[in-house]
Order: sequence, then C-alpha cells, then structure tokens
Amino acid sequence: MRTLIENGTVVTATETVKADVVIEDERVAAIGLNLGVTADNVIDANDRYVMPGGVDVHTHMELPFGGSFCSDDFETGTRAAAFGGTTTIVDFAVQDYGEGLREGLDRWFDKAGKATTDYGLHMIVREVNDQVLKEMDELVGEGVTSFKLFMAYPGVFMLDDASIFRAMRQAADSGATIMMHAENGGPIDVLVRQFLEEGKTEPINHGLTRPAAMEGEAVHRAFKLAELAGVPAYIVHLTSRDALNAVREARDRGVPAYAETCPQYLYLSLDDLGRPGFEGAKYVCSPPLRPADHQEELWKGLVAGDLQVVSTDHAPFNYSGQKDLGKDDFSKIPNGLPSVEDRFTLLYGGVEKGHIGLNRFVELVATSPAKMFGLYPRKGTIAPGSDADIVVFDPSHEREISAQTHHMNVDYSCYEGVSVRGLPEVVMQRGNVLVDQGSWRGTTGAGRFVPRSRMTA
Ligand code: URP
Ligand code: ZN
Ligand code: ZN
Repeated sequence: MRTLIENGTVVTATETVKADVVIEDERVAAIGLNLGVTADNVIDANDRYVMPGGVDVHTHMELPFGGSFCSDDFETGTRAAAFGGTTTIVDFAVQDYGEGLREGLDRWFDKAGKATTDYGLHMIVREVNDQVLKEMDELVGEGVTSFKLFMAYPGVFMLDDASIFRAMRQAADSGATIMMHAENGGPIDVLVRQFLEEGKTEPINHGLTRPAAMEGEAVHRAFKLAELAGVPAYIVHLTSRDALNAVREARDRGVPAYAETCPQYLYLSLDDLGRPGFEGAKYVCSPPLRPADHQEELWKGLVAGDLQVVSTDHAPFNYSGQKDLGKDDFSKIPNGLPSVEDRFTLLYGGVEKGHIGLNRFVELVATSPAKMFGLYPRKGTIAPGSDADIVVFDPSHEREISAQTHHMNVDYSCYEGVSVRGLPEVVMQRGNVLVDQGSWRGTTGAGRFVPRSRMTA
C-alpha cells in the first residue's frame, strides 16, 4: 500500500520545506518534489504543515490515585491523543507496595492492550530492595529504559534519599534514565496538616502548601544525587523559576540534567486554583500551578534549551464524582489534569505568539521526547525509514477548546472557551489514517508496544 501526501510544507526539528511525502506500507519511503509516483491513497496538504506525530512521554492512563482511577483508559486516552496530533505516548506502569516491578509492568501491559496508538512504558518504583534492583536491569533489556522516582507524597510514592541513590546507581549501570518527581514531600506534608488544622480546606491551599522553593530544593538534590550516582536525570512536570534555576545550575556544571514542562504551567496559574467555590479543584495537580510570572521564565527555558520537552502529565479526574472527594479537604482532591488532546495545539500557540519557532515546536512536541526516551528515529521525525506517524496540520483553523467537543473521557476542560489556531486535520500512524477531518478511523487495540533504547539525546 502506497500513500502520497502532496503539496504540503514538511516541518521537522531542522527543516521547513515544500515537499511531497511517499509512504510505503508503514514507513516513510521518500521526501521530495516531482517524485513521479502513483499511489493508492493521495492526501492533498496544500496550505498545510506536514509534521511528525506528537510524542507525549508523560501520561497516566487508568492510574490509581487518591482513592480513584484516572478517567481515561488506554482506549479513550490514546484516541483523544490522536485527535490532538499525538501518535505515541509513554505511560507510567506502577509497582504496588509488596510486589516486584514485573507484576506492575504486566498489569500495565494488560491495560494497554486496547491502545489505539503506539505506546512505550516507564516504570514507577515505589519500593527499592535487592530484587527490585535486579528487575530494573531486566526491564531495561525489554525496552523499559526509564524509571520514575518520587521525592513527594509520603506514604504513597515517596522514597528516601538512600533508596533514590540505590535506584540511581542501578540505573547508571544499565544505561537507564531516572525521571524525578521533585518536590520535598516532608515539609509539604507538615504544611498540609497545619493548613487543615487551621480550617483552610479550599483548593487554593493545595498551591499554598507546596511552595516553589520546595521544588527548587528537590531538583537541586535530585541532580546532586544523580551526579554522585553517574546517571542522567530528567525532572518531570517542572513548574517554577526556582526549579528551572536548579536545572540551569546543574547543566552549567556539565551534569546530564534534563527537564520537561507541561502546557498547564505555561498557560494556567495559581489564580485558576483560586477560582470561586470548588472550581479550583479542576486545576489541582502536583507540583501545583504557580503565580503567572513563572510562565515567562519557562518559555525562556524552552527557547534556551534548559527545558527539552513539553509533555502533558495527562491525569484526568472528573469534576463530578472524583475531584469532589476533596470537597471539604483539599488534600483529598485527586491530583492531575486532562490535556493529552490539547498539548500539540496549545504549544503551537507558542509559535503564534512568537515565543518559539516552528522547528523548535516540532522538536519540543515530537523529536526531542523521542530522542530522550529511545524512540528516535523510528518516532519523532519524518525521514526515510521512520514510521509514517504524520500530522497534516491546518495552521489557520480557528476553534474553541471545550469539554463538549473534546474526546478525553472527562467532564471538564481546563481550557474551556479558550480560542486556539491550528487543527491536526489528518493524523496517521504507521501509514494508517487514525483521524480524518474530525472523524475517527482508528482501531481499538491496533496500538503497538514500542520497546525503547537508551537515551540518545
Ligand atoms: O498531579 C499529578 N501530577 N498527578 C499525576 C501523578 C504525578 O505525580 O505525575
Ligand atoms: Zn509526578
Ligand atoms: Zn505524572
């Protein structure tokens, strides 16, 4: 089966060129003009950008959290991702207390069987012991080459520094990457208890009890430990100037220090957590949204390269029936926001507003995450031999984001009524059309597990 995408402008992390793209079965075969080929399927991309499918390396499908499960599973979540221009996710398998990594990973493979897009898996390590350390090596051999550790959520996910250091040394030996949730959970927990005792129960207090200084401290500590262990470390969902300065400081010293931020930290703020009534609960995530003046600094980090990736941390919970578990106690509001469908277009807003260029946009949403997490060049670019994961993007299409029209399985949008330009009009995975002009053409279970190599950034 041959597909030809003609008359478009092909945009990669390094080039913007008028060119046609030929796809043979699942792979890109040629890029150029006047290729003189006939095809079974021809897509006209006149006035459109032809971009690599997005790679979102931070999602939580069906994650158990705070007495509830994220409302998107691999079927609904990957379908929504595809509508938004993302064709590969990397989700987090979770080790439960008292079990090995293998059981947690198998549980995630069961969940992921219904994925409609390709996916990889990271592993969240909640307990470190000799058996777990051995299993880390085995998982790396099977294409699970990154491990997330937590410095926050005492009693739920948090590891002490000794356990973190042991896991880091093991990862260093096998060439894996450590991903860190960097917030100092101890003092945060003290503040949470104090605020609740003082009767401060509203959602805004989630933000006020998790100061940016405690994120900055944890990022600094994470990189010091990683340096000692000799492992590359990647900070997930970085939110603040304090944390970014700690990344800059480590990188300036030559440490393999990396970080992502997420659309919510670029576009939303503490003011959203303070919305009237209980509405702020829609915006509860950790680390929390910050005062708006942190946003400009994050954009600077994306331009300068101190932040290498924009992912979503997609962790949706319904406002009605899930977020309201914390109606009388902000600490019981499940942490997380929906955004897997909106990342591509929201970040394209950064191009529209002049924060970043078009090639940097592609780098941040596709190429760099693919490189960081061992998916490149199969994913994250358009090049001969790469998987034909392609977005035909209409940059002039104007629309409003709304829960009425999004495809995520969640009853609200953090961006309700926000006007955006740009629409992933045709979205293709390995040469198969998943989305065509707003219609779903994908197949439940057609997504494949992609074993990942070690970091190539
Ligand atoms: O609030 C968040 N970020 N929820 C998902 C779990 C995590 O820490 O990434
Ligand atoms: Zn986290
Ligand atoms: Zn997360």
